[in-house]
Amino acid sequence: ESLKDAFEKDFYIGVALNGGIIDQSDSTSLNVVKKEFNSITAENIMKSAIIHPKLDSFNFEMADKFVALGKTNDMHIHGHTLIWHSQLSPWFQDIEDSLEFKSATENHIKDLALHFKGIVNSWDVVNEALNEDGTLRNSIFLKKMGADYLSLAFKWTSEIDPDAKLYYNDYNMTNPEKRQGAIRMVKKIQEQGIKVDGIGMQGHWHLNSPSLEEIEQSILEYSKLGVQVAITELDISVLPNPWDLEGAEISQNFENSEKMNPYTKGLPDSVQIQLANRYKDIFNIFLKHKDKISRVTFWGLGDGQSWLNGFPIRGRTNYPLLFDRNLKPKAAYYSIIGLKEKF
Ligand code: G3I
Repeated sequence: ESLKDAFEKDFYIGVALNGGIIDQSDSTSLNVVKKEFNSITAENIMKSAIIHPKLDSFNFEMADKFVALGKTNDMHIHGHTLIWHSQLSPWFQDIEDSLEFKSATENHIKDLALHFKGIVNSWDVVNEALNEDGTLRNSIFLKKMGADYLSLAFKWTSEIDPDAKLYYNDYNMTNPEKRQGAIRMVKKIQEQGIKVDGIGMQGHWHLNSPSLEEIEQSILEYSKLGVQVAITELDISVLPNPWDLEGAEISQNFENSEKMNPYTKGLPDSVQIQLANRYKDIFNIFLKHKDKISRVTFWGLGDGQSWLNGFPIRGRTNYPLLFDRNLKPKAAYYSIIGLKEKF
């Protein structure tokens, strides 16, 4: 049995793909992806800086390989991401005139939506537009276009590809203030008669936070908007978070410190079990609310490929995913597959 077989009737089970998997040079990883997952997201190659490097030219090569891989293997293809202030093409950032910026934004969205029309099944239309207190992030999009950029982004995407499912995607979506901000934002878009199909809750979570109650309540509150909830970018860091240290600031001094990087020689069994239990608990919630959840996507395949080895401190050895550095399924993998007997 595989993950995709186990959750076939519940929600898509997805994974974010890096370059080596997309260009098929890493065939070992690719085989695991094909066996285990029925949805894919590109970890980086559809972000504006990569796919749209110049005002008038696109770099579709890798993205086309990515979608071809999905199509050949009958997978749900998720596009990440149309509008994001980060990894934004430098030319975009250099546009001074507001009207020019607005038309460049419209063209960026429409060109991508058209190129992938009927191929990309769902899009992160806007990524990470909120501050932790629920107000709008003062991004270049807000500065140049005002708050309307949010509804316009959804409108422009749906005008080109009305069948694609359109998501708002962000992290810390379980934080009550941010959650209220997201709900306000989506309601405003809906009130203008513009469709939003879903909310993506990025699952960059930890062993002890957010609480299971916060996760469950968030799924319930978002779905009251009449949208689907996707758990996107799921990974669970097992390492101490520098921000949790009292009075500490992230500094280079943490690099290579044993306190911040305690498991360089492997993950102790006790933590392995803690991670498996954490995954089991959160998947219990997902299965309980499977009618509200469209997709659960892991942010990477094996532990060695995770961005969390480099964030927020470089050179750490993290173990956040279901497959180890040799792509062997971990206890966490079996703990969630085992849940199916219950549901
Ligand atoms: O490919 C280049 C390489 O040629 C170069 O030598 C190297 C030098 O830094 O950089 C490489 O690019 C890196 C890229 O990942 C591929 O590994 C970028 O520097 C690095 O910034 C980029 O990080 C990505 C990050 O988004 C960028 O913000 C992570 O892989 C990716 O996992 C992460 O994903 C984001 C989601 O898109 C949105 N939500 C949060 C999530 C985690 O930050």
